[in-house]
Amino acid sequence: MSGAWSPSSWRAMPIRQVPEYPDPAALAAVEAKLSKFPPLVFAGECERLKAALAEAGEGRAFVLQGGDCAESFADFRADPIRDSFRVLLQMAVILTFGATVPVVKLGRMAGQFAKPRSSDTETRDGVTLPSYRGDIINGAEFTAEARTPDPARMEFAYMQSAGTLNLLRAFATGGFADLHQVHRWNLDFLGRSSVWARYEGLAQRIDETLAFMAACGMNSDNAPQIRETAFYTSHESLLLPYEQALTRWSTTHNKYYACSAHFLWIGDRTRQLDGAHVEFLRGVANPIGLKVGPTMEPAELVALCHRLNPGNEMGRLTLISRMGASKVAAKLPPLLRAVRDAGCRVVWLCDPMHGNTTVQAGFKTRSFDDILAEVRAFFDAHAEVGTVAGGVHVEMTGADVTECTGGAYRLTAANLAENYATSCDPRLNAAQSLELAFLSAEELKLRRASPSRRARAAE
Ligand code: PEP
Ligand code: CO
Repeated sequence: MSGAWSPSSWRAMPIRQVPEYPDPAALAAVEAKLSKFPPLVFAGECERLKAALAEAGEGRAFVLQGGDCAESFADFRADPIRDSFRVLLQMAVILTFGATVPVVKLGRMAGQFAKPRSSDTETRDGVTLPSYRGDIINGAEFTAEARTPDPARMEFAYMQSAGTLNLLRAFATGGFADLHQVHRWNLDFLGRSSVWARYEGLAQRIDETLAFMAACGMNSDNAPQIRETAFYTSHESLLLPYEQALTRWSTTHNKYYACSAHFLWIGDRTRQLDGAHVEFLRGVANPIGLKVGPTMEPAELVALCHRLNPGNEMGRLTLISRMGASKVAAKLPPLLRAVRDAGCRVVWLCDPMHGNTTVQAGFKTRSFDDILAEVRAFFDAHAEVGTVAGGVHVEMTGADVTECTGGAYRLTAANLAENYATSCDPRLNAAQSLELAFLSAEELKLRRASPSRRARAAE
């Protein structure tokens, strides 16, 4: 049953993954303060993103969603923001040029601070403390002080999101993203990897194309599409007091929008049909996402689609499949069929990260082969059912980290300690991110090609 919605109607619903703030008055004071702060995004931008996602749902564009598992207060600097943005641009260029498809660029950035946890507490050497839930809630350090949820952290998260978003907007429209910079985006350390030569070859072809277009009269001065790009932000809508405080009525659109980011998603642990997180997101007009893990039942997914997208608007709801490489073939096709047969219009993305986490040499890691296998299996499942593979959702960074094994540098468990820098889950490094983009571009080119081209490629 879904009744009247308001920005606070989620409070009457059962909620999971909720931090226990020791001082409710302090929490209320921060919420009141945040509710007066300027929104971080404008409703019109959310609608533009929704329209772009609808194109991906119809097979005329491809979504690239990526960024940190969790952003961190300690690492609030320009360099990581620039490097992640740069690798996302490179991945987008590989997909746009390699598969001739427009790419919708969506960062897991400027607000990705709250983390769901499998346990409410953590015990070390006989001491039990609340689990770390992300910098917007508490600190990672294993002390009672750091682990106590502190509402003041929401204010800093808002400020960090605003600063990050400001820089991303500047990069997207201020010249950094100009296609003429395609060679300069390469990061020095990529020189060590075979993926670098592949990227350079593609950049060379883009240069030639741009020179041809310039000769025809199109350049950065008269064609903004060459000079700038649209870049959107997203995060998991987990900490609902924060999300509610940043929800605004748009007098232009006559609707409520969650204004902490353009796109918000519901995690696999908080997707209960009558739970608080589904209740909150059903009422805001943003484009939204729903993680779909291996325990999701077809009927349950269809009910969630109806609840979250009652107007059946294409672009409103993105389903993010995260099965684990070995489960996709069995689990995904029945879900694709059920959603299609119910007439639900959705965008499907593949998150090849969250179903493939293992522990090796004491580190939480993911094998790059499993990640690639899940992406391939995702494309296969859509080909089998006749639905559209709309994009990928990855945890990645522009830095030269050693968090996932495999890839061009052939990282093994023994390499993980070299530069394991994540504050949560293991991310693809820059080279692994580009490799994944090349693979996705190939799959896309093949699957969306004419049947005769597919047959030729199979020979
Ligand atoms: C995440 O995207 O960081 C996450 C926790 O994913 P999931 O909800 O799919 O486990
Ligand atoms: Co994660």
